[in-house]
Amino acid sequence: MIEILVGSQMGAAEYVAEQVAETLVQAGYETKLHLQPDLDQLSPTKVWLVITSTYGAGDLPDNIQPFADQLAQDRCDLTTLSFAVITLGDSSYDTFCYAGKTLRQLLQQHGAKPLIENLEIDVLAADLPEEQALAWLPQLVNSIKKGE
Ligand SMILES: Cc1cc2nc3c(=O)[nH]c(=O)nc-3n(C[C@H](O)[C@H](O)[C@H](O)COP(=O)(O)O)c2cc1C
Repeated sequence: MIEILVGSQMGAAEYVAEQVAETLVQAGYETKLHLQPDLDQLSPTKVWLVITSTYGAGDLPDNIQPFADQLAQDRCDLTTLSFAVITLGDSSYDTFCYAGKTLRQLLQQHGAKPLIENLEIDVLAADLPEEQALAWLPQLVNSIKKGE
């Protein structure tokens, strides 16, 4: 089971998450989308895939900020957890894709293991965000398989 945690203000990251979930289901994985991620509703024994955009000056979208606050305050042990992060951002900002960097750091502080480098999707690039995500997905699936 792959828990997909979505951080999205205007829907672009949410759309990417839906496309990624559909493709993972086709590859034989069970997925669950969390549009309001809540630490208490997530199992730390599964793979978490965070898909988030970046707002403000490198900030997290409003819907995933409470989850980051929970993580920052909680002493939870995530050492059994593997995770990956897809971030959407705009490369004209100095704080390009910082939301993903912040969440990666928070998860690692609790002992969770990154499966792969963060995918940083530039919304200014010619390819659509979902195309960039789906092109990268086989790398993620390989790293999940290696960990199984
Ligand atoms: C007000 C505002 C602030 C933003 N700040 C950042 C930023 O600091 N870093 C970055 O990489 N992208 C930034 N972006 C770009 C968004 O992350 C990008 O447009 C993304 O596709 C939005 O996804 P969403 O529709 O899921 O919220 C910003 C966009 C807006 C509108």
